[in-house]
Amino acid sequence: MYDNNIHNILKIIINFWYTYIMKISIIAASHRQKSESKRVSDIIQARLKELSQSLDCFSLDLGASSLPLWTPEKKNGDGVWGDTWIEISNNLNQSDGFIFIVPEYGGMATPSAKNLFLLCGEGELAHKPSLIVSVSSGNGGAYPIADLRSFSYKNTHIMWIPENVIIRNVEEYNPGNHGKAIPEWLDKRIDYTLELILAYSSNMKPLRKLINRKDFGNGM
Ligand SMILES: Cc1cc2nc3c(=O)[nH]c(=O)nc-3n(C[C@H](O)[C@H](O)[C@H](O)COP(=O)(O)O)c2cc1C
Repeated sequence: MYDNNIHNILKIIINFWYTYIMKISIIAASHRQKSESKRVSDIIQARLKELSQSLDCFSLDLGASSLPLWTPEKKNGDGVWGDTWIEISNNLNQSDGFIFIVPEYGGMATPSAKNLFLLCGEGELAHKPSLIVSVSSGNGGAYPIADLRSFSYKNTHIMWIPENVIIRNVEEYNPGNHGKAIPEWLDKRIDYTLELILAYSSNMKPLRKLINRKDFGNGM
């Protein structure tokens, strides 16, 4: 009787957690330490917390995480794959949505972003909504979006939402004190996309019941 009551209370708490508490992972996909992408990701995380106070956030800085390129040893969980990666993978698995801050490198998304897609082989990103924020120190920023939208989803099953953000002249981006090259509408657009990713992340949760990774783990 006593055990049953505890079991029911635990079930209610777990249901409440999954229904009302959301987790968003914010990934800065630069190769540099103290990058512009990480700076932008910190600003965006702070804004997200203002928009949704109960939100749980996981921040991953690929420039600082020293994750190696995918190797076959990952399968056995040896070395870095057994400690550093498992913790990252668990955090991504628990997330309901993602925000990728991706700088344009050589007219592409960064290799570290592509590497993360290879590493996420256990459905960490699968059928979860994700927002792309691309950054450029100049007038670029469109190519990483085209690259990610075209070539990242097949096996990860990541779900890019139809809106994205490009932060051009990123060194001048500083909400409250932007430089002249930052358009005055940018903060409003960022808020709009953050509200959207929060709504998508919450509304897509029931979809997860349908996912069949055993038969359809890789796309076509
Ligand atoms: C290897 C490399 C390649 C780059 N290629 C481009 C490019 O093709 N287009 C562009 O607009 N900026 C390019 N840039 C400039 C980046 O947009 C700028 O350095 C930006 O701040 C990088 O973001 P990060 O600080 O997060 O790494 C490149 C920078 C690096 C380091």
